[in-house]
Amino acid sequence: MAAADARVQVIDHPLVQHKLTMLRDERTGPKDFRDLMEELSMLMAYEVTRDMPTEPVEVKTPIAVTEGRAISGKKVAVVAILRAGLGMVPGILRLIPAAKVGHVGVYRDPDTLAPVEYYGKLPSDVGERDVIVVDPMLATGGSAVAAVDFIKQRGAQHVKFMAVVAAPEGIRRLHETHPEVPIYVAAVDQGLNDKAYIVPGLGDAGDRLFGTR
Ligand code: PRP
Ligand code: URA
Repeated sequence: MAAADARVQVIDHPLVQHKLTMLRDERTGPKDFRDLMEELSMLMAYEVTRDMPTEPVEVKTPIAVTEGRAISGKKVAVVAILRAGLGMVPGILRLIPAAKVGHVGVYRDPDTLAPVEYYGKLPSDVGERDVIVVDPMLATGGSAVAAVDFIKQRGAQHVKFMAVVAAPEGIRRLHETHPEVPIYVAAVDQGLNDKAYIVPGLGDAGDRLFGTR
């Protein structure tokens, strides 16, 4: 794992980087894009959960009793920013099947680029859970800030943000507003173009996942 700023973890595992390259490729169609997003999210979740506490537990193997370890910390909530965050949820649930899932609907107004919130549903005990907010793209950061605002207003205290590709502008904006939220990404790209798309990025993540335009 590479880290320029301790609050931004760039997950540089070879499998993550290989799958990211396939996601970026404009020839990758929706089915493969969804499969890759799921696999990449599962691999990234492995790193995002690295600091989970464990406690000793006794386990009886067919041969002997021994001491193993079990996860002992808070339960997890995964919160997807709609729509594209949906593509990251199945991979994370494969690793953490007991996690509850929340949804925050936010889209960027195409003219102003301001985030527009249209939906929110979180687990009722979100305040007692470790929250992982997921969205493949952290561009201007407007959607991420709006989603984290919403989640914190409902009591969440421990929030991590997981994206596939981030622009430096989005990282800056999220950290200006929520400095304690660690960000996990597979890549930090060059920046934004005049339509606030990440360059080189991977295009419109929601459209590529769901085959819309
Ligand atoms: C995309 C993406 C993020 C947002 C990032 O969603 O999935 O949510 O843009 O941009 P920002 O950092 O500048 O806010 P979009 O608004 O396209 O909505 P969609 O997922 O429903 O297509
Ligand atoms: N949203 C996307 O889906 N892609 C970008 O590059 C920026 C915002």
